[in-house]
This record gives sequence, structure tokens and C-alpha cells, in this order.
Amino acid sequence: MPYPIIFDTDPGVDDAQAIAIALRHPDIELLGLTTTYGNVNIETATHNALLLSELAGQSIPVAQGAAAPLAKTKYPAPAFIHGDNGLGNIELPPVSGKAVSQSAAEFIVDTVNARPGEVTLVAVGPLGNLAAALQLDPGIIDKVKHVVIMGGSIKEGGNVTPVAEANIFNDPHAASRVLTAGWPLTMVGLDATHRCVLNPDHMEAIAAGQGELGKVLAGSYAFYAEFYRGALGIDGCCPHDSCALAWLIKPELFTTTKGHLTVVTDGDAEGQTVFAPAGRPFIDSRWNRTPTVEVCTGADGGAIVEWIVDTLK
Ligand code: BDR
Ligand code: CA
Repeated sequence: MPYPIIFDTDPGVDDAQAIAIALRHPDIELLGLTTTYGNVNIETATHNALLLSELAGQSIPVAQGAAAPLAKTKYPAPAFIHGDNGLGNIELPPVSGKAVSQSAAEFIVDTVNARPGEVTLVAVGPLGNLAAALQLDPGIIDKVKHVVIMGGSIKEGGNVTPVAEANIFNDPHAASRVLTAGWPLTMVGLDATHRCVLNPDHMEAIAAGQGELGKVLAGSYAFYAEFYRGALGIDGCCPHDSCALAWLIKPELFTTTKGHLTVVTDGDAEGQTVFAPAGRPFIDSRWNRTPTVEVCTGADGGAIVEWIVDTLK
């Protein structure tokens, strides 16, 4: 039976590939794309979400969401990683569709309430839309099937600061609300996504299998790969956001453990996700007081990349 999901995203090169998986995988029923600023500004995020579903020949509702963090000052979008247009500065075809009139938060609330117990939220950008949905209707905590977050880091360290992963750093206040809301949640962070590297041969297979959409995925990945070559010295890229969907469909490819998360919202460690393993006492209870969640501590990177390529080739 397919998994009905809402995919919350800031497309973004690796988001684009994950959106392609969400659109194509036979076990995923994509109910809607909700957009957030992050890798790009909010208008570009919405444009790209519409474009990618049109290129896949599908008409998926797109609901526009957060344009800025809840509390902190917004940093400029990382054009040097994703390009000014979020898709590696390649030339893009025109878009004909428009976003729905509901906000992302309204779309999430209405969709979850319409199918209680069925809908999984997969969030792969800063978490303002999920935080806004929680504020609009806290009742969704008991009605979502699951929440999967690409974000955070337990032992891997950060990618935008020594300790913080980008999606959490971009809006730590929203992340704190979402990661501690008490809904069933799995965090797929850098401890898992850094185990996965998509190389140029993988991208060639994906491009060949995806027609017009494939051209955009491969063209944008070439730009993203340049960043990885310079920053991490690898010949390929980490498909962060696709890993959240890999966890949904193939959880056996991940190692996970349960415990409590807190998010640092201020100071030099802003955006850090602090993990206290379940059952382990610390000097006081502050790190154990949040609800129990599941975090990924590792992954079979080769098998995940194979799953991504098999899905899209
Ligand atoms: C995350 O940050 C964004 O740049 C990527 O799209 C991914 O969601 C990785 O840290
Ligand atoms: Ca993303």
C-alpha cells in the first residue's frame, strides 16, 4: 500500500532529486509539495516545486510557506551551492501552474485532518511550515502517521557551523518546536546522509531515465558537484533529501536509536541538535525531558545510493 506523504521542501538541487523520487516511486502517494525558503527564496522554491512536477507530467498541489525564520535574522540563500535559481543556474523551461491559495501550514493541517492516521510529513528544509502547522492545529500531533526530518547531526558535526546542520541552523526555533512536539518522528541527519555519495555515473543513469526532468536533475547536480569537489574533496554529492524518502521506504538500510533531542537556539552552538540516548541518566534531567524520538546514527550508503538510482534510472 503506498505511503501518502506531504513533502516539505526548499528546492534546491538535492531537494529536486528527492521530489523526483516522491513523484515517481510506486509506493509513494505524493499529496502535495509545501515550500519554504532555505536553499533559495520562497518564490523560487515555489517556482521550482511547480516546475519539477510539471516536468514529471504530474499535477501536484504546491502550497507556499515560510519566507523567513521564526525568530532569527535570515542568512542569504547559499547560491554558491545550489545556484541563484536553486537548480544550478541552468536554463529552465517556463512554468504554467500556480500555487494553491492555502498556505503551506493550512495545507498540512487540512490534509492531515482529512486522513487521520494516514499522512506522513517528510520535511527536508528549515522547519517553519511544520512549526506553523503545529501552532495552527496542535491536534495534528495525534493525527499524523509519522514525521521524517532531513536535518540535524548527532556525532557527525555540522555542515554550516562546526556543530549545526543547515536545515536546523536556518530556523532553530522552528526546529525546536518540531523535534520536541511529541509526534512520532525520525531524524535523518548528517550521520546517515554523509555515508551516501552519488557519483557522475549514477547521475548519468538517472538523467537517462527521467526525460526532461532528468536534464534538470543532471544539469543542476553538475553545479552542486563542483561545490562538493571544493568543500569535501569528493567526486560526487550527498543526496541528503533523498535519504529521508529512503528511510521511509527502506528503513532497514539505516541504523537508528531512540532518545531525546534538544535544539540549541542561541549562541555559538545555535542549530546544534543535542541527543540524549533513552534510559541514560545525566547530571540533571534537562536533556531527557523532551519526548522520545528516533534518530539515524548511520546508514548503508552504497545500498541507499543503489535504491535512489534504481528508483530514477
Ligand atoms: C540540507 O541542507 C540543504 O542545503 C539541503 O537541501 C539539505 O536539505 C543538508 O544539510
Ligand atoms: Ca533541502
